[in-house]
Amino acid sequence: MDAQALKDSWHLVARSGDQVPLFFYSTLFLMHPETRDMFPVSMAAQRDRLVSALGRIVSNVDRVDEAVPLIQQLGRDHRKFAVVAGHYPAVGHALLATLQHFLGDRWTPALANDWKQAYELIAKVMIDAADAASATSPPWWEGEIIGHERLTLDIAVIRARLNYPYPFRPGQSASFSFALRPRLWRFYSFANAPRRDNTIDLHVRVVDGGTVSTALVHGVQRGDILRVGAPVGDRLTLNPNLPRDLLLIAGGTGLAPLKALVEQVAYEGPTRRVHFFVGARTSRELYDIEALTKLETEYPWLSVVPVVSHDVLYRGERGQVADVALRAWRGQEVFVCGSGEMVGATVTRLVEAGVPNEQIHFDESTTGEGKEP
Ligand SMILES: Cc1cc2nc3c(=O)[nH]c(=O)nc-3n(C[C@H](O)[C@H](O)[C@H](O)COP(=O)(O)OP(=O)(O)OC[C@H]3O[C@@H](n4cnc5c(N)ncnc54)[C@H](O)[C@@H]3O)c2cc1C
Ligand code: HEM
Repeated sequence: MDAQALKDSWHLVARSGDQVPLFFYSTLFLMHPETRDMFPVSMAAQRDRLVSALGRIVSNVDRVDEAVPLIQQLGRDHRKFAVVAGHYPAVGHALLATLQHFLGDRWTPALANDWKQAYELIAKVMIDAADAASATSPPWWEGEIIGHERLTLDIAVIRARLNYPYPFRPGQSASFSFALRPRLWRFYSFANAPRRDNTIDLHVRVVDGGTVSTALVHGVQRGDILRVGAPVGDRLTLNPNLPRDLLLIAGGTGLAPLKALVEQVAYEGPTRRVHFFVGARTSRELYDIEALTKLETEYPWLSVVPVVSHDVLYRGERGQVADVALRAWRGQEVFVCGSGEMVGATVTRLVEAGVPNEQIHFDESTTGEGKEP
């Protein structure tokens, strides 16, 4: 397989922007109408989750070994869309037809064969993982909302009780959907470590014009049912073989998965010291600080420091959260979570200050795009 040819051709196709998913979905739904029901009712504001990921993943087939765990996760998670093995050829056809359309003369039999083989390989990893998962877990879980608290105008903390035990690790996320916004799935991070009563906490912030976040903060109520996909993500999970102290740096609702790590340290025994720096623009946006301060008084190994960047009257730590956190840097493992912008700036600052790359773990928990493997 000529991996470079796959990458180059995908790069060329991707230049046609929105035309690519438009062609892909028209082909898919025309040739395989049975797949239409899996996708959102309105595809007008389609954020192209599937097509760009499909091209990226398949064209990186030469690095498949590194990506296998993520592709398996994706396969398990696809059970939430009611995808079964029989649907994979349909998506493969639509992908190849799309490539052929946009590549014109450059679509040679050799290239077509390479794309077909690469797609089949990735599809097999996903299908095998989904099959294995179906022996032990449902395609999605259901969680009844038992708590819904608006902590600021635009942030809600939601607690739901799941119908079956849910095997996630602190630092992971899952995608959620609910009746008010049918067939729209969005990722949210768990803000807690697994509990015996199967409850989970989510911290949701409204994104301007956001379809799902607005409904979760302002629309849903106690008693509503959330559908929960399989847990995903390993960038923010703790390595049990590396019991180093932790330096946690959060921006906005990026504190959710980091709070879950604090709970994990509490359950597993305080072998680590944890410094938790929570950044916000104004003190009003420090929405969960009361709960974190309570944890700090319970656990002598935990220190919580709120940091505010845009409020000259604030009496506590002021400035960029990365700068303040760096003062507490003593060789710990560092975990960063927040908006894409916050994470980018923080990681750059840490690297400049000499924190080794391999000790920096980060994820953009508040950006819904470009996150998939
Ligand atoms: C792994 C992962 C974990 C996540 N965890 C959380 C979490 O714990 N809490 C949380 O609140 N969110 C989290 N998110 C973001 C969440 O998945 C949604 O993207 C977010 O709630 C917006 O969805 P929406 O349907 O309301 O917006 P959409 O209707 O999809 O988008 C509306 C508009 O806003 C833009 N947009 C989408 N997201 C953002 C953003 N974050 N900032 C600026 N513009 C945006 C879109 O491009 C579009 O123009 C996470 C995302 C990922 C990938
Ligand atoms: C190699 C094969 C495939 C890859 C790499 C792939 C990858 C992805 C990725 C990364 C996403 C976004 C993540 C998410 O929203 O959870 C996605 C979404 C989706 N995929 Fe797949 N997928 C594949 C095959 C399929 C098949 C066979 C179907 C069924 C017809 C399917 C149906 C969907 C649906 C319904 C969505 C949600 C789209 C949306 O919300 O807009 N996928 N896929």
